[in-house]
Amino acid sequence: MAQKNPDSCFEHPKYAGFSPALDDAYRLLDSALIYYQGQPVGTVASTDHTAPAVNYSDCFVRDFFSAGLVMLLEGREDIVRSFLHVIMQLRGQQEALEGQQIAPGVLPASFRVHRDANGEESILADFGDRAIGRVAPVDSMMWWAALLRAYVRYTGDEAFARTPEIQRMLRMILSLCLQSRFEVFPTLLVPDGSFMIDRRMGVNGHPLEIQALFDMTLCCADLLVPEEGSQWLIDLAHRRRVVLRQYLQRYYWLDMDVLNRIYRFSTEMFGEDVENLFNIYPESIPEWLPEWLPDRAGYFVGNLGPGRVDFRFFSQGNLLMLVADLARPEQVEGLMNLIEMRWEDLIGRMPMKLIYPAIKTHEWRLITGSDPKNIPWSYHNGGNWPVLIWPFVAAAIKAGRYDMASRAWAEAEERLLRDNWPEYYDGRTGRLVGRRSNVRQVWSATGLLLARHLLDEPDVLNRLGFAPQPPDDPELMAATSMPQGTQNGGAR
Ligand code: GLC
Repeated sequence: MAQKNPDSCFEHPKYAGFSPALDDAYRLLDSALIYYQGQPVGTVASTDHTAPAVNYSDCFVRDFFSAGLVMLLEGREDIVRSFLHVIMQLRGQQEALEGQQIAPGVLPASFRVHRDANGEESILADFGDRAIGRVAPVDSMMWWAALLRAYVRYTGDEAFARTPEIQRMLRMILSLCLQSRFEVFPTLLVPDGSFMIDRRMGVNGHPLEIQALFDMTLCCADLLVPEEGSQWLIDLAHRRRVVLRQYLQRYYWLDMDVLNRIYRFSTEMFGEDVENLFNIYPESIPEWLPEWLPDRAGYFVGNLGPGRVDFRFFSQGNLLMLVADLARPEQVEGLMNLIEMRWEDLIGRMPMKLIYPAIKTHEWRLITGSDPKNIPWSYHNGGNWPVLIWPFVAAAIKAGRYDMASRAWAEAEERLLRDNWPEYYDGRTGRLVGRRSNVRQVWSATGLLLARHLLDEPDVLNRLGFAPQPPDDPELMAATSMPQGTQNGGAR
C-alpha cells in the first residue's frame, strides 16, 4: 500500500492509495503546513480562503493535536518537536493586562507567521487577547502537555523532555493548574468558552472536557525530573489525580439510578454527611432527560457546581474520560451503550454531535447572548463535528467496541470528501453542512486519518502514552479526603 509520494511531507504516507478520501486528507494536511525559518512548525486551521474569521489561517494548539499524532505515527516527529518548541517560546509574548499579573503557564490559542516586506519572519501569538469574544484558552497548555507526553512516549526522546526549557514550562503549567484558589472541589474552575467551545455557551465553572484534560496534564508530571526540585510538584500532581478521578467517577456520573435519586432529593441540607451535597433541586432536571436516558446506559454530566448540574451530553469530555482511563468499567460500558442506543442523536450522519441536546428560545438567548452562530442544532450548540471521530474511535477501542468505531469511521469517510472537509454539520442528525462552516478544515481531515491509524493498530494508543495507568496507590486512595455525599453514584 505504501507508495513514495514526492508531494507529501511524509516519505511514505501510510494510507496513500487507500481511498480517495484519505488521499485528499493527506493533500489537505500538506497544503496546511506553516513554515518558520524554512521548517514546518504547524498547520493552519483551514485552507478555505473564504473562511468567515481571519484567524482560521492561524495554527491553533488544540487543532494541531490530531495532526501532531498523525505526524508522529508517520515518521515526522521533527515537526511535532518544532511545534512544541515554537509554542513554548511564544509564552514570553503574552502582554501584561493592566492591573493583572500574567498567568505564567497559559499558552496561546493560536499563532501565525508574519512576513514583512523584507521577508523577515516573526511569529504573532493570540492569547485570547485578540480572539473573538476575548477568551482565555485554558486548554492550550493542556493539549500542548499531552502532545509533549505523546511525543516523548512514542519516540523515546526523554532528552527533549529533560531540557531546562521544557522542565520549566511543565513546572509552570502544573503549578498554575494546582494553585489553590477559592475552590472546595478537586476540579478546575474556568471561565466560559475556555476550550474547544470557545464562545459563550454556559460552559463556565467545571466543564467535563477541561477536567479530563486536567487529568491528562497532571499525568505529565511523570516527565518532570525529580532532582530538579520538582518532587513536591510530582507528589501534588499525583495526589490531585487520585481525588480528581474519584470525584469525577462519583459525582459526574449519571444513569437511571442516579437520576432517580436526584429526582427524590431532599434539599437545603447543611453539614457533612448529606445526601444532596451540591444542593441540586429536582426541578432542575430537564424535561427531555428521563425519557431519553435508556436503562443500562449513562454518561458524565457536562458540568457540576453549587446548585448546578449541566445535564447536557458533551461528547469530547465524555470521550476523553475514556481515552484517559478515568471511568470505572461499568461506566465505560454504560457510556458506549448510551451512544449505541442513541446513535441517531449522538452520531447521526456525521460523527459526532458536540453537545446534545441544543438549547433553544429564551434559554438560547440567555445562555449564548443570542449568538447567531450558535443557533439550535448548529456549530457548538448541537452541531456535528467531524474532528470528534478520533476521540470516538479511541474511546470505542478502549471500550472494546471496535464495531462501533468502524461503523462511525465509515460514515464519516463517505461524506467528508464529498463535502470538502467541512468544519461542522448542522441539524438534529448532522445532515446539513454547517451554515457558516469552513470547508477544507484541517482537523476534520487529520481526525479521520488518525482514527484510521487507531483502527488498524489499536495498540498504538498505548505507545502514544494513553496506556491505562490509574493512580491506584491504595494507601494514598484511603488517605485522600473526599467530600462525602451519595449523589451520582456515591452510595455504591
Ligand atoms: C473555532 C472552534 C475552535 C477551533 C477553531 C479553529 O473557533 O470553536 O475549537 O480551535 O475554530 O478551528
